[in-house]
Amino acid sequence: MSRSAHPAGPRHADVLPEGHYSAPPADLNLLDPKVWSQTVGRAEDGQVTVGGIPVGTLAEEFGTPAYFLDEADFRARCRAWADAFGKEADVFYAGKAFLSRAVVRWLKEEGLNLDVCSGGELTTALAAGMPADRIAFHGNNKSEQEIRRAVEAGVGRIVLDSFQEIVRVAHIAQSLGTRQRVQIRITVGVEAHTHEFIATAHEDQKFGIALAGGQAAEAVRRALKLDGLELIGIHSHIGSQIFDTSGFEVAAHRVVGLLKQIRDEHGVELPEIDLGGGLGIAYTSDDDPREPHEIAKALFEIVTRECEAAGLRTPRISVEPGRAIVGPTAFTLYEVGTVKPLEGLRTYVSVDGGMSDNIRTALYDAEYTVTLVSRTSDAPPMLSRVVGKHCESGDIVVKDAFLPADLAPGDLIAVPATGAYCRSMASNYNHALRPPVVAVKDGEARVIVRRETEEDLLRLDVG
Ligand code: LLP
Repeated sequence: MSRSAHPAGPRHADVLPEGHYSAPPADLNLLDPKVWSQTVGRAEDGQVTVGGIPVGTLAEEFGTPAYFLDEADFRARCRAWADAFGKEADVFYAGKAFLSRAVVRWLKEEGLNLDVCSGGELTTALAAGMPADRIAFHGNNKSEQEIRRAVEAGVGRIVLDSFQEIVRVAHIAQSLGTRQRVQIRITVGVEAHTHEFIATAHEDQKFGIALAGGQAAEAVRRALKLDGLELIGIHSHIGSQIFDTSGFEVAAHRVVGLLKQIRDEHGVELPEIDLGGGLGIAYTSDDDPREPHEIAKALFEIVTRECEAAGLRTPRISVEPGRAIVGPTAFTLYEVGTVKPLEGLRTYVSVDGGMSDNIRTALYDAEYTVTLVSRTSDAPPMLSRVVGKHCESGDIVVKDAFLPADLAPGDLIAVPATGAYCRSMASNYNHALRPPVVAVKDGEARVIVRRETEEDLLRLDVG
């Protein structure tokens, strides 16, 4: 079986034929609640609003391009995950999707834990007051300095990713006179993306320690012997933008198999397993993601069943959703600069941002939708490609979309579902200034990450 889809969507034009697009929606003015956050609507004058504020007002105050994050929606998603998993499990928000101090405070208030995967993310988490014991520290090549900082801070767990790291963390913890709680990340031979999973040919990647060939069992053997480590469990993350649980089922089966082997060999029942993140969201109306309570139910059932069959106590489960929490909560607002019809092909709509604020289309061939938000229009649909202002023809934000044919420079258009992996993967390509993230709630908007300035660029450039 060949891999035919990327975490983020169909990969390159060899998967979907060039020119693939759905039929135009019946009404271009409609806002599909699947892809827009919960407080988004249209005002009587036709403008789209979020948290009760019209996009025109937001554009005037904060400029474009900008990400607008619906705080009520973010908090509601946190609560939905926390409620679905209950007291018997732990939800760690994956900070790589988007992290800022405000977000950390919301997570803390809503009772979630936090997964960080770099010193920078750890610093942000601690600076915003996330209790260290609610932080999990990930990464396939954590530096000694990062490990030391995490151990000193007292993070709840470090997820060990290699044989070298087992020794490194043990040594650092011991030198600091402590025992660090750790999990071992294993690769279970499952790779899941979107609607598919592949249960072979997956070990050829950089993360974790392979279950195959007894590697993971050997890692456990070594970790159990080291005084600086308290091995609390096994970690597995199988992919991203996953819509069904069959991949998790195979992963849980294999993780529980390892737990059984550990019990048989060492007489130890590890108390926890982490099944990672990767739950999908709707980027377009064609996507059908599952609700947190459905996912929780499926995962509990799988793990309980597997443990009963293996004669093990059911371990405490944790999960690490990133995209599924923050992805749907934000949209990117752009101003249209030029509209260029190409006879017989499509119309190129250039906006004031591009691949520097959303690399996902260029990198993964990810699909997005786009809507005219500064007004409604009764004009017929026009097949469009939304492109940025970078010096590169691959600078595409939305590959195929329908916009009204009367679209003109100065109109505001918005791309929904950009809360995850857009600002966090933004770049300064062409010395673009990374856009701000503005949190909107109950008629109030406030900047939580400010727009970069040309001064910022020059400050880094020491001349
Ligand atoms: N846990 C671990 C160990 C991970 O590696 C990841 C994502 C997550 C949790 C969170 O996954 P999520 O629930 O957000 O899918 N830049 C790509 C996604 C890379 C994800 C890497 N790891 C994208 O834009 O689609």
